[in-house]
Amino acid sequence: MDATDMGDSLQDVLVTAEQMDQRLDELAAQIDGDYAGREVLLVGVLRGAVMVMADLSRKLHTPLQMDWMAVSSYGSGTKSSGVVRILKDLDQDVTDRHVLIVEDIIDSGLTLSWLRANLLSRGAASVEIATALRKPKAVKVAVDVKYVGFEIPDEFVVGYGLDYDEQYRHLPFIGTLAPHVYEN
Ligand code: XMP
Ligand code: MG
Repeated sequence: MDATDMGDSLQDVLVTAEQMDQRLDELAAQIDGDYAGREVLLVGVLRGAVMVMADLSRKLHTPLQMDWMAVSSYGSGTKSSGVVRILKDLDQDVTDRHVLIVEDIIDSGLTLSWLRANLLSRGAASVEIATALRKPKAVKVAVDVKYVGFEIPDEFVVGYGLDYDEQYRHLPFIGTLAPHVYEN
């Protein structure tokens, strides 16, 4: 999928595919340095993190394993409440593992702070977070995110794994939608 396929549904491009690729190179180098001599368990949060997991993991030299979780936060519509339900749990035991949670976007940060606490309570040796995008609200929440791709404005974005109504996940860049899309 590309901008042409979007027609007049695309408003702005916030992060190009090239910018994301370059930034993930930098994050991967940082992660390789930080995890030198250790094996890391990448935990992707379904479904939005699929693209960043695929791209980031292939840039890493550190020995790693991958696992996936699906969570849903209780709350109405687009508002996160901080109460999280596990829809799909990890297949692996995280005891004594160095876990790196891989996320597409952090908005309020409530989901992530719950997830980190949950994995630490299962006996993980460490739990860090890598996210492709972070919105301004998240900065105010006390969730320490070690690896951030891009800080973006507080707008709803799609592409690179992120959807609107399950669409646009396969758009290679991060963009905003024209207002008329939401009116349909
Ligand atoms: P928190 O708990 O950090 O939740 O508020 C983050 C989750 O909210 C979703 N989210 C978005 N999804 N475009 C999307 O497609 C967005 O702009 C957006 N902002 C937040 C997403 O599921 C993320 O995991
Ligand atoms: Mg979504």
